[in-house]
Formats: sequence, structure tokens, C-alpha cells
Amino acid sequence: MEQDTQAIVLEAEAEAQTAADSRALYEVKMKFLGRTGKVTALLKGMRDVAAELRPAFGKKVNELRETLESKFAALEEKMKKKEMAAKLSGEQVDITMPGRRRKQGTLHPVTRVRNELIDIFAGMGFEIYEGPEIESDYYNFTALNTPADHPARDMQDTFYLGDGLLLRTQTSAGQIRVMENKQPPIKILSPGRVFRSDDDATHSPMFHQMEGLVVDKHITLCDLQGMLDEFARTMFSQNSKTRLRPSYFPFTEPSVEVDVSCASCGGKGCPLCKGTGWIEVLGAGMVNRRVLENCGIDPDEYTGFAFGMGIERIAMLKYGINNIKLLTENDVRFLEQFKD
Ligand code: DAH
Repeated sequence: MEQDTQAIVLEAEAEAQTAADSRALYEVKMKFLGRTGKVTALLKGMRDVAAELRPAFGKKVNELRETLESKFAALEEKMKKKEMAAKLSGEQVDITMPGRRRKQGTLHPVTRVRNELIDIFAGMGFEIYEGPEIESDYYNFTALNTPADHPARDMQDTFYLGDGLLLRTQTSAGQIRVMENKQPPIKILSPGRVFRSDDDATHSPMFHQMEGLVVDKHITLCDLQGMLDEFARTMFSQNSKTRLRPSYFPFTEPSVEVDVSCASCGGKGCPLCKGTGWIEVLGAGMVNRRVLENCGIDPDEYTGFAFGMGIERIAMLKYGINNIKLLTENDVRFLEQFKD
């Protein structure tokens, strides 16, 4: 009997050695201590042992069970520790590793310039008005003193939609909508998309304009130039100057083309300004009295000025962009350059 129990202990130890994880170890344990295990079988076999030998036999088997239980308990404890250590080292995180960078977008240069323009003019008391992109011929042309047979219609290649509708070619259309609905004083800024059948390095079939309109008593061209000086200094450089050149637009009289001194050479003349020291930036003028009349505003009582500029053009000048297509291709390598 003594030898038997010794053999069983050795056998259990040997098998336990081969167990690779707690699950396998548990199975080995059950093989000896489980309901159908070897030790349990010995206990069950007690009935066949002679009555006088039974107490000693039972004691031996119980000792064996206790020995195995404590051995397995110790092995299980060891195995758990081993497994926990393996798990921890497997999940180890290197906190010194650099983090994963998240790509951060930037505002599109056209949006930046648009926001900047709004900041500049809102600071001078302008309100924002946004008109529709699909306009009637009347608002886009006729009311702006450009009737159907007017030669100035050819200044803009229009996308006509039929039924007297078109894609607006200029945000100037919004001037009429504002003046029809409100008597002076009027001071509005109107940003938006405009459309022309035009396509080359500096023209795109869709681009953005910013319109300005001021109507009140005693408004003069000097007021216009004062505001544009302020705009040029904030947008381009503190030393920027403006210059007005006579021009023609049907809705203004007189009409002017506004140049800003070249920020790249300071006005000395360089390739950007084609040696002139000046860069043409926008169109403007005193609101034609016919336009005021069309909107029910008395031109003998009120005068006004208006201006309109291309936002892409301003962005191209400000950031030295030489092709307008870059602004619509959405190449991130280009756009990433406009970070704060
Ligand atoms: N609408 C003109 C254009 O698209 C720009 C313009 C010129 C707007 C003179 C004005 C203005 O308000 O007074 O070419």
C-alpha cells in the first residue's frame, strides 16, 4: 500500500509536469482527484478491503488525497502566476513610443480670404447679405442698367438657364435685392459664388466675389477710397496704397478700377506687377442714378458707392498663387501650406 501511494504521487507529479496551462493541469488533477479519478477509485475500493485493515487503508488513502490536493494547489498557484506574467508582458505598452498623429485640416485659402474680408468690412459697420446663385436676368443685368441690347452684356459670358433665369455672373445682383427692400442708410457686404463661361489660368467657370454697397446722404468717392485704403492695408501690407483709374461699368457713374500698390516690390516695379508697381484688384464706382431709380431710391436725395472684387484673385495676390486651378483641385499638398 505504501508503495502504491508513493507510485501514485510520483505519477501525478510527472503528469502535472507536462501540463502546459491551468486547463491541462486541471485535467491532470481530475485524473487523480476527480469523481472518476484514481484516488477516488481507491476510496471506493475500500469495501473490498478486509475489515481489520480498513482503518489503516482509509487513513493512507486520505493522506494520499491530502498530499495530492496540496501539491496540485501549489502547482495551480505557480501556473496562475506564470500565466498572469505572460499576459502582462504580452499586453505591455511602451509609453515612450511616439503617439499616432491625427491629420488636421486647414481652412481653404478662399475661405480664409472671405473671412478676412468680412472681418475688415464688418469692422466698418457692414452687414452681410447673401443673394441667390440662380438669378433672374432682371436682377443680374436689366436692373443694373444693362438691358438686353446693352453692349456691356458681352463683358460677361453668361450661363443662361432659360425662362429668364441664369447663373448669376456677379454678386452685384444682390445690390438690387437689398435696395428694393430697404431705404438708405444701406451698408452691405455680399459674398458669394458667381458663374461665367470662362476658363484659363486666371479664370474659372465658378469663382467667388465680394460685393460692397453703401447708400446714404452725401456719400462720395472719397468715402469709397478711404474704406478701400483701410481694406488694402489690412489685407496686404501696412504700407499699401490704392489708386483709382477711370473705367466703365453700366451700374456705376463714374466707374473706377482700383489698383493696390504691389506688396511684392513695394511699388518699385517687379514681374508680379509687370513693372508698373500697381496691381488691379477690384471694380467700383458711384451707384448710377438709374440703378437707384430702378429700386425706388431718390437719386437727388441719396448717393452711394459700390465695389466688387474676386476673392480668388485676392487670394492669388496675397499668397502668390499663379494658377486659379490650384484653388479647386483640392490637392492636400497645396492646401496644407495655408496653416496658421
Ligand atoms: N460686378 C463687376 C464684375 O463682376 C464688379 C463691380 C464693378 C462691382 C463695379 C461693383 C462695381 O459693385 O461698382 O466685374
